[in-house]
Amino acid sequence: MTKAELRKIEALKSLTWEEFYRTPLKNKLTYFEKSGRMFDMLFAQQLTPEIISTLFATANKIRKIAKAKEGLDWLQTLLSHKRAMLYFVQPSTRTFVSFQSACYILGLKVSEIRSTSTSSELKGETPEDTIRTFSSYADMIIMRHFEEGMAEKAAWMLNKIKRPISIVNGGSGKDQHPTQALLDLYTLDLSFAERGGINNKTIVMVGDLKRGRTVRSLSYLLKLYKGVKIVYVSPDYLRIDNEIKDFLKKHKIPFKESADLEKSLPGADAVYMTRIQDEYDINGESKDIDYSKFHLTKKHLKLLKKNAIIMHPLPRRQEIEVAVDSDPRAKYWRQERNGMWIRAALIAYLFGIEDKILNI
Ligand code: CP
Repeated sequence: MTKAELRKIEALKSLTWEEFYRTPLKNKLTYFEKSGRMFDMLFAQQLTPEIISTLFATANKIRKIAKAKEGLDWLQTLLSHKRAMLYFVQPSTRTFVSFQSACYILGLKVSEIRSTSTSSELKGETPEDTIRTFSSYADMIIMRHFEEGMAEKAAWMLNKIKRPISIVNGGSGKDQHPTQALLDLYTLDLSFAERGGINNKTIVMVGDLKRGRTVRSLSYLLKLYKGVKIVYVSPDYLRIDNEIKDFLKKHKIPFKESADLEKSLPGADAVYMTRIQDEYDINGESKDIDYSKFHLTKKHLKLLKKNAIIMHPLPRRQEIEVAVDSDPRAKYWRQERNGMWIRAALIAYLFGIEDKILNI
């Protein structure tokens, strides 16, 4: 690290949390690195083409090695001396279980807290002190929190102490879900492997685009590919926000907005369905939205290209009819399993052991 870079880090360390949080992301990304490598995984914008390519290759290799017992036994030696804290105080099924499984694959020991009602936060301890406490016991914190910015705050705080540990953002309020975007991208990459990869594909994102953090994170990552077009299909009230639209305009990524699912399907290479995020309602406003127009049913399948794919971060409600599951274009169950492999690759990368896996 150059002297100028060191001075920048020291200057960032001297900021209050409010000042740090207000600092534009591009000016603070190095704060989440150690020795020039990503150390905390908080934002989709941290993922460069080089990191993504390393993670995809590592995930492919882990998946192959883990098929045989001897291979899995070897993988489980790699981080058997490390411990991870799974701090998930917002509901989760697959992010939690896939990270837990990814830890098991690499031999990490895991501890978990799944609700503030069973931690000392119930006795009035702040989330900040709770997170600091984890750093006394664990070598990595993987967290999902209901408060926007809490994962960033954890990294801001822990990068100032003597024994910093990596923070992985498993979802922070309405803000971002970068590891979901990573597994979405991995699924797109695997699905389009025989069709020139993700470049030049049209991705149709459907549903609650205003409050869906997976859509936000994936939109940021699509910037890394050439010729990608995005179509956002949503009810008027749930349109994608201006921050994402400004980002796409700045990077000259063509996008369209529509409220018509049927018209948008024939051009899609990938349809990315999402559920309504009514847990973020302020006054029960979701009840006034006719979300049924944004449901993919069996009758829609004939409108889709033969080689298109259907994705969903899950969980779903009615936005994909169960009868669609048996269509070969439905990739969402594979997508959630891909999450385990790519998250194992991410953990390996953050501990700096990906070369051991890639070079075996
Ligand atoms: N996709 C996703 O984040 O699912 P969970 O909420 O079940 O973790």
